[in-house]
Amino acid sequence: MNIQSTIKLNNRTHMPAFGLGVYLIKNGSECVHSCNAAIRNGYRLFDTAALYENEEGVGESIRESGLEREEFFVTTKLWNTDHGYDNTLRAFDKSMERLGLDYVDLYLVHYPVEGKRMDTWKAMEEISKDERCKAVGVSNYMSWHLQELLDNSSVAPSVNQIELHPYCYGGERLNTIELCRKNNIAVQCYSPLVRATKFDDPNLMDVAGKYGKTGAQLLVRWALQHGFSVIPKSNNPGRISENCGVYDFEISATDMTALDALYSDEIVCWDPTKTP
Ligand SMILES: NC(=O)c1ccc[n+]([C@@H]2O[C@H](COP(=O)([O-])OP(=O)(O)OC[C@H]3O[C@@H](n4cnc5c(N)ncnc54)[C@H](OP(=O)(O)O)[C@@H]3O)[C@@H](O)[C@H]2O)c1
Repeated sequence: MNIQSTIKLNNRTHMPAFGLGVYLIKNGSECVHSCNAAIRNGYRLFDTAALYENEEGVGESIRESGLEREEFFVTTKLWNTDHGYDNTLRAFDKSMERLGLDYVDLYLVHYPVEGKRMDTWKAMEEISKDERCKAVGVSNYMSWHLQELLDNSSVAPSVNQIELHPYCYGGERLNTIELCRKNNIAVQCYSPLVRATKFDDPNLMDVAGKYGKTGAQLLVRWALQHGFSVIPKSNNPGRISENCGVYDFEISATDMTALDALYSDEIVCWDPTKTP
């Protein structure tokens, strides 16, 4: 496993297992500098969204990197107010304009908005045939949202991006992960660092200390060893570099079990289990 390792998606494209999340990074120079720092460290996947209002910065950094476009994997997302067939097609065009790239590698439905998500998915099926989009997927879909989609469409999502870290690795999320595995849908962990709220938990930090690693590095490695894709966010060059320092150690099976046991049904972002 290394920073270039990829996960094969169900449409036969490949997605890097590791990348940078850019939520709350300011568009313009802050975003460009963060992405540039990530690129220097070997990151090739960038996770943005219409909501984050920094698609331009991500696109700019990639265009000016001096590397081939094909080296990168760029994800963006459809925001909740843009659901519905026509709105989705329009929102995709707008994201493409802001990114300023010929294509996006992955276009995700950001959230399974009730009553609208199936019309939205019809448009996502269209978008999946557009040469400007390599793969389509979903985010925050729990097992019943996914099952509904799989039962009523001809294109399966390639990726389901959900909040995932040891503190929420249980309950409904395990059902969702199992359904994803059965249908060859890659699972991608967002908020994998629990938004830096657990670095004072001795149960986490003692294991990290054993390997001479930081809490952040342990959490990233935990996700990768489970076979998930993972997108920690930082806009700090030191921490951007720290978060990818995860390829020179391996968490033992016993410690993986101990980390899995940190489950406490805690999440730091929204709760899709409340959406019917
Ligand atoms: N699909 C969705 O609904 C959804 C929801 C949430 C997030 N996401 C995606 O997932 C990405 C990651 O999730 P997230 O941003 O919510 O949270 P996260 O990656 O779990 O945590 C980010 C926070 O941790 C800090 N941090 C980063 N590296 C650190 C380190 N080595 N040591 C200490 N603190 C560190 C960051 O601060 P600094 O920046 O100052 O380093 C930031 O405050 C997002 O950026 C976004 O791309 C998607």
